[in-house]
Amino acid sequence: MNVLKNYWELGSRVADIVEHVLALPEPKLILPTGSTPLSLYKELVNRQLDWSTTTTFNLDEYVINPNHPQSYRSFMKKHLFDRINIYPNNCNFPDRNTQAYEDIIPEVDLCILGIGSNGHIAFNEPGSSFDSVTRVVDLDKQTIEDNSRFFDSIDDVPTQAITMGLKTIMKSKKIVLMANGEHKLNILNIAMNGEITESVPASILQKHKNVKVYYCD
Ligand code: PGA
Repeated sequence: MNVLKNYWELGSRVADIVEHVLALPEPKLILPTGSTPLSLYKELVNRQLDWSTTTTFNLDEYVINPNHPQSYRSFMKKHLFDRINIYPNNCNFPDRNTQAYEDIIPEVDLCILGIGSNGHIAFNEPGSSFDSVTRVVDLDKQTIEDNSRFFDSIDDVPTQAITMGLKTIMKSKKIVLMANGEHKLNILNIAMNGEITESVPASILQKHKNVKVYYCD
């Protein structure tokens, strides 16, 4: 595990990896939302990189109106896509046509992940099959509580989402897991050093050959 000095250092180190990938002829990335990647996205915007040949696939999306301010489409536009020279048609998000999304996700060059306090990656909640692919899921009570900070009230948090599966994520050539805050340390240790079990979805990453973990408290 790479322990960084602070949150901005975390963003900057992962931005170095993204910058490297963006030098490929047709880069393909899987991207996360949440509070953890904000320093990464800010740093990437500041670097003014060329995204014109890049294609992105977001990990997940709520079952929500795509124009809702808390949809992950809105999040990505606000924090990254509207601030870089990526073509909107090259920015992909899951929707109810889950099989179509699964079918277009290639073996990406880089997948960036956060981790939920219950060990989820994307919205693969505890108990998700290691063979899971893109699908509609019910959100865990813990996830709804964690994400209520982004909504006016807990009742406004969507109860369902569409997520890439664990098998989908594992196809990636390289995976970077980002975690910020001491409250993530315990689950991070369990996921990366404990038993590989569907009760801790992130533990599947121990089976991947090219995973790096970046953490700051
Ligand atoms: P966070 O969420 O970055 O908002 O902590 C991470 C996650 O749930 O994957």
